[in-house]
Amino acid sequence: MSSDHFHDPIGAALESLRERFVADHDGEVASYIPELARVDPEPFGLALVSAGGGSYSAGDDRTRFTLQSISKPFTYALALCDHGLEAVLDRVGAEPSGEAYNAISLDEETGRPDNPMINAGAILTCSLVDGRDADTRFGRVLELLSAFAGRDLEVDESVFDSEATTGHRNRALAHLMFHAEALVGDVDDALEVYTRQCALSVDVRDVATMAATLSNAGTNPVTGDRVVAPEVAEQVMSVMATCGMYDASGEWLLRVGLPAKSGVGGGIVAVSPGRFGIATFSPRLDEQGNSVRGAAALRAMSTELGLHLLHRTHHLEEELAAGTVDDRAGALVVRLSGELEFTDAERVLRSLVSGPTPDRPVVLDLDDVRGCDEVASRVLRATATTLQRDGVEVGVVDSHDRNLLGEGFEDHVDMATACGSFDRSTPGA
Ligand code: DON
Repeated sequence: MSSDHFHDPIGAALESLRERFVADHDGEVASYIPELARVDPEPFGLALVSAGGGSYSAGDDRTRFTLQSISKPFTYALALCDHGLEAVLDRVGAEPSGEAYNAISLDEETGRPDNPMINAGAILTCSLVDGRDADTRFGRVLELLSAFAGRDLEVDESVFDSEATTGHRNRALAHLMFHAEALVGDVDDALEVYTRQCALSVDVRDVATMAATLSNAGTNPVTGDRVVAPEVAEQVMSVMATCGMYDASGEWLLRVGLPAKSGVGGGIVAVSPGRFGIATFSPRLDEQGNSVRGAAALRAMSTELGLHLLHRTHHLEEELAAGTVDDRAGALVVRLSGELEFTDAERVLRSLVSGPTPDRPVVLDLDDVRGCDEVASRVLRATATTLQRDGVEVGVVDSHDRNLLGEGFEDHVDMATACGSFDRSTPGA
């Protein structure tokens, strides 16, 4: 458990979630993998790693469990790194199957699995990992998942053996896909890589760090390592959002609204993009194979803290106040700050273009702007161009010389030059 909750309000919040749900004894531990039937059902741990690298945890945060299906999104990331989205999509879909994780959700004609989060899709994903044999391929999986976790992970050999000797259904799925020529290469190799990745031994802190790496656009915030490219992190989180919780995926997105993935080892991983990664561990599972306490804690946390992906808070409005307008030296100066995105730029557009045409030159002061995304840049550029077309002089101030609005708007580099270049016959109030 985290040491001092007085100084650790986040650890304290995790601890209070643990206390709220620890009395829930519903569900059953997975038993179809004999070794999993032997695990202690009682532990309950939670961890959160922020996109800035802060780690917080509560409860049984050092108890080891096997990743199981939580490995799937991360190996999907490796297949995406090896082949790119188009080639991977040709072989494994991205549609929620609405079926159980071990269902035969394969296209009738092509044998293509519905998505990479169900067993069939994950086995196929393993066959896509580059490498001459199972050892090399698994070595690459291990290396990447360890980089996500920021620690050298190891396989729990007894869980691996237990599933390898009993996993007839997965073998059947792999052979069906091989028969349909959806899975090419060695079937046993793909199964070996898949079963090994499922048996990786982790604790909640490892898993929260893996999620934080996705949350932080593919860079592990604890080690600073760039693990995957931002677009790969985005693609992985998308599939987690739509397919990560199997036949509970739709309701999960509705109620919890966070990309997530569960495993029959009792873990759940969830990502709040740009904010943090969270992991829970509690072995008793509901009928869909999702940890009962973990799902309840994440549901409560998301609702109470407004973490739903589609949730918008009032602070966005306050951030917009970062844009101020004042009169200076006869010019209308619009000062912007922070990270500009669509909403900020659209506000500038509305205030300058929708109403009466300004009767004096306009200066866009970008000195305090930290960054400007593509859409904000285009909207600001369109605003400036529209003003010019209506006969208004426009200057852009950016002493950092970043040329945020593109060509034609880079010539005024400081405020004095910008304002000085205008006619001062109408000094500002
Ligand atoms: O292949 C299996 O059945 C397991 N190794 C993993 C399944 C799993 O974790 C489903 N998740 N809830």
